[in-house]
Amino acid sequence: MEPTDYYPVPHAVAKHANLDANDYQQLYQYSITHPEQFWEEQAKARLSFSKSWDTVHNSNLSQGKIRWFEGAQLNIAYNCIDRHLKKHADKVAFIFEHNDPTQSYSLTYQQLHEQVCKLANVLKAYGIEKGDRVCIYLPMIAEAAIAMLACARIGAIHSVVFGGFSADALANRIDDCQAKVMITSDGGYRGNKITPVKANVDKALQHTSYIKHVIVIEVTKTPIDWNSERDIWYHHVMEKANNDCPCEPMQAEDPLFILYTSGSTGKPKGVLHTSAGYLLYAATTFDYTFDYHEGDIFWCTADIGWITGHSYCVYGPLANGATSVLFGGTPDYPDYSRFWQVIDKHQVNLFYTAPTAIRSLMRQGNAPLQTTSRQSLRILGSVGEPINPEAWHWYYHHVGQERCRVVDTWWQTETGGHLLTPLPGATPLKPGCATQPFLGIQPAILDTDGNECQGACEGILVIKQDWPGMLRSIWQNHQRFIDTYLAPYKGYYFTGDGAKRDQDGDYWITGRMDDILNVSGHRFSTAEIESTLVKHPAVAEAAIVGYPHDTKGQGIYAYITLMNNTQPSDDLKKQLISYVRQKMGPIYGIDLIQWAPNLPKTRSGKIMRRLLRKIAANKLDNLGDTSTLADSDALNNLIEDRQNIETP
Ligand code: WT7
Repeated sequence: MEPTDYYPVPHAVAKHANLDANDYQQLYQYSITHPEQFWEEQAKARLSFSKSWDTVHNSNLSQGKIRWFEGAQLNIAYNCIDRHLKKHADKVAFIFEHNDPTQSYSLTYQQLHEQVCKLANVLKAYGIEKGDRVCIYLPMIAEAAIAMLACARIGAIHSVVFGGFSADALANRIDDCQAKVMITSDGGYRGNKITPVKANVDKALQHTSYIKHVIVIEVTKTPIDWNSERDIWYHHVMEKANNDCPCEPMQAEDPLFILYTSGSTGKPKGVLHTSAGYLLYAATTFDYTFDYHEGDIFWCTADIGWITGHSYCVYGPLANGATSVLFGGTPDYPDYSRFWQVIDKHQVNLFYTAPTAIRSLMRQGNAPLQTTSRQSLRILGSVGEPINPEAWHWYYHHVGQERCRVVDTWWQTETGGHLLTPLPGATPLKPGCATQPFLGIQPAILDTDGNECQGACEGILVIKQDWPGMLRSIWQNHQRFIDTYLAPYKGYYFTGDGAKRDQDGDYWITGRMDDILNVSGHRFSTAEIESTLVKHPAVAEAAIVGYPHDTKGQGIYAYITLMNNTQPSDDLKKQLISYVRQKMGPIYGIDLIQWAPNLPKTRSGKIMRRLLRKIAANKLDNLGDTSTLADSDALNNLIEDRQNIETP
């Protein structure tokens, strides 16, 4: 390995860090040989319980039974807010940085407490009880975090749906979890655009009848339709609400939230996280991965609609009594220096973003950096997809001025928090490498027969033991939970990712092993996009694959077979692209379409995606074994025609 591709921990960093290399080694060994003692100590140090547990750990991974701290009682909002009030009532919990840079404000823990109690009382007044589901469909505003915490306070289960999902996608999620109340807004800001939010809710509610009340937050003051039997202005009800709301005592394993994520087959999965274990894992990873010190300002740029927003905008920071910046804007508005401006403005110490954002800013060159100092930064985090070395170097050398440790955190919606990551004071860095397991995590690499590989190797990444932050089920489909994660390799949690382990025992993620795409750090199911496309009257058949894309990581490439009576045209391509965006949401932007009069299939009728991926990537030199193809003309025609498709 090149010496420049290896960044040992500077002595001064190790000295001031929460954990240095020795601490990590010792604690890690302890955490995997004595997991119950380890997590029990962490729980005692980090959380407040109103009743202690009977057992720390009572799981059976292959049977799909995952239980931590059974018998214990706690409340998540109490742990995130109330217990900090004694010493830190006036400390800032959230800094909200508005899309418009002149409109930012802060909420102290005391102020947050008041808002959360009021909204919790409003929810109760509209019939929400412990265990009921509340859907949150909002742009990135502080009220999104308030809404999550209000649910947690009264034991309601929140299901946040990202604002970039369509009305149909929203309706499906409401149906699946049978949410009774919706919390939304009139509109949202995104750069110089205003996005329709309430209009999508209105559309979604034509297709589902579970929602009884819609609480609407006034954000953009744009005109909206109003259904007076159902719709309620947030500011009206909040004005009158009582600010005293006791915390509902919850069992450790009571559900905290459902968050939908794409699977490789079928409809999106409602990933279910529960209370004590999830919060403990979010709190512990936040503390160690970002080397949090009292007084640090932390900024995670993710939207609350994703797990990153749940664990590292809200639950992890607040459980640590930290100050968390919530960002309602975009990296390019008003210009490409926005991230760096915000870092200087709020003196951000710990910064956490996605490779896709880093790459798109890197493309702008260093001029936008030069107007800012970024001296406050100490840690730079990355999440969502592998960070390519070029982007890593730019992040490390230019954004962080070679002073900041880069933590490349690998994890998933299902894992609740980081599973593989460097720790700032403990782990030498390698660009593009997620390095070492977090405390309590035992990764393994399997070959295709399911045997564990030793030493340096490459294969299927699995986890050997459950951990407190792991999902407990798929909402109302426990069998799917077992089938997806636990049945593929008995006794292991199956991640769906491939990985390499090098000579030093460091882990490198090689990408998904299934038909899931990672576009700009978001998960897309190829099957879901295909089934949307075939609903269009012009489409007979569709196959979606990913291809390498400069900023998005992967782009979406669609092969489409048209109905016999339909003529291909550029106009039809545009129509199909907008059809998918409209049906699934604006984040589902197909990048390229290739007409496929026939798709290459095996004799048993299976589409040969491996070949389609090669054609999409324009990597035609080595197609591998094509002997199982039913009709080689289909393949040859696609290869020939590929040259006519321009890769943007
Ligand atoms: C998938 C999970 C985890 C929150 C954001 C995405 C990929 C995530 C990394 C990383 C390489 C990564 C994996 C994983 N991924 N982080 N640091 N290096 N790949 O959550 O939507 O559940 O997606 O994102 O493929 O399985 P998600």
